[in-house]
Amino acid sequence: MSGELPIFTLGGEEALKSLPKARWVWKKFWQYGVDRGQQVLLIGGGSLLDLGGFCAAVWKRGLPYISLPTTLVAQIDAAYGGKTGLNFRGGKNLIGVYAPAAEVWVWPGFLQTLPLRDLRAGWAEAVKQALLDSAELWQAVQAAPFSKPPDLALLDRLIRVKLRWVEKDPYEREGARFALNLGHTAGHLIESLAQKAGEPLRHGEAVALGLIQELSLSCQRGLLPESLLAEVWTKFREEALLRPMPPFSRRLWETLLRQDKKIRAGRLYLPLLVAPGQVRIEAIEPEALYRVMRAYTAT
Ligand SMILES: NC(=O)c1ccc[n+]([C@@H]2O[C@H](COP(=O)([O-])OP(=O)(O)OC[C@H]3O[C@@H](n4cnc5c(N)ncnc54)[C@H](O)[C@@H]3O)[C@@H](O)[C@H]2O)c1
Ligand SMILES: [Zn+2]
Repeated sequence: MSGELPIFTLGGEEALKSLPKARWVWKKFWQYGVDRGQQVLLIGGGSLLDLGGFCAAVWKRGLPYISLPTTLVAQIDAAYGGKTGLNFRGGKNLIGVYAPAAEVWVWPGFLQTLPLRDLRAGWAEAVKQALLDSAELWQAVQAAPFSKPPDLALLDRLIRVKLRWVEKDPYEREGARFALNLGHTAGHLIESLAQKAGEPLRHGEAVALGLIQELSLSCQRGLLPESLLAEVWTKFREEALLRPMPPFSRRLWETLLRQDKKIRAGRLYLPLLVAPGQVRIEAIEPEALYRVMRAYTAT
């Protein structure tokens, strides 16, 4: 490549995480002769980082890349831990590899231009992070207005929660990192269902609904006190984060769940919350998740 630094721009959201978009990126790498002596700089939200990270990770068996996350979801979550991915046939992140960014550069100023809807959605991941960490961090998140970006101290704490969980188990082999999937089994199903219904939700909005439903399941199983579920529910309601559930049939729900990476040998493994900072991985009957999602839809 000679002289100028090539810059490619790609607009869009979840639809970026597709094979046609990946092909488009690889075509650019090919045109410009991108080689392994170069680094790719990815600037964008979680969707762009998931796509760009994957494209870089498999091009010539791996180009190093740097991430510059521009959304709250990406600054506190998606930029770390190396999970890259594309969606396939309506299923979330079915194609992907673990390939951590060589560096992550966080500039909080990006959050100033983020539309309110995306900012609020980002706070749903902050709630997940806080619940996984401690009662103290949950209180700090609960006290924060979701219409504004977190202050620097809180942003830093939320980033560190993700880093700590990832460091324990970088490739999700020992199970520790599995906790980060809290709210994401129901959440990913809801995200895919909404997409199919033609009214896509932001990832964080689907996670907010997923968190309520999975915390309800924890309560039903006698693991979590109802009072914590009520606190999370109240905060999400106050912040207008709970969008209507997309419609779904049993058949479509089953088809999508079958593709979930948390299904192992026909059993569904879920991280269930016991208390802030305390998670238990349980194998559950998929039926139990279906019932709780249906029950929520009826409320
Ligand atoms: N790999 C991981 O570990 C991980 C973790 C969490 C989420 N994710 C993935 O991230 C995706 C969601 O990412 P997201 O919530 O960041 O949304 P997004 O990347 O889809 O971006 C949302 C919108 O915000 C715009 N945008 C981005 N930055 C902006 C800025 N600073 N100012 C104004 N507009 C801006 C984008 O162009 C887009 O229209 C989902 O696909 C989810 O699965 C991945
Ligand atoms: Zn998420």
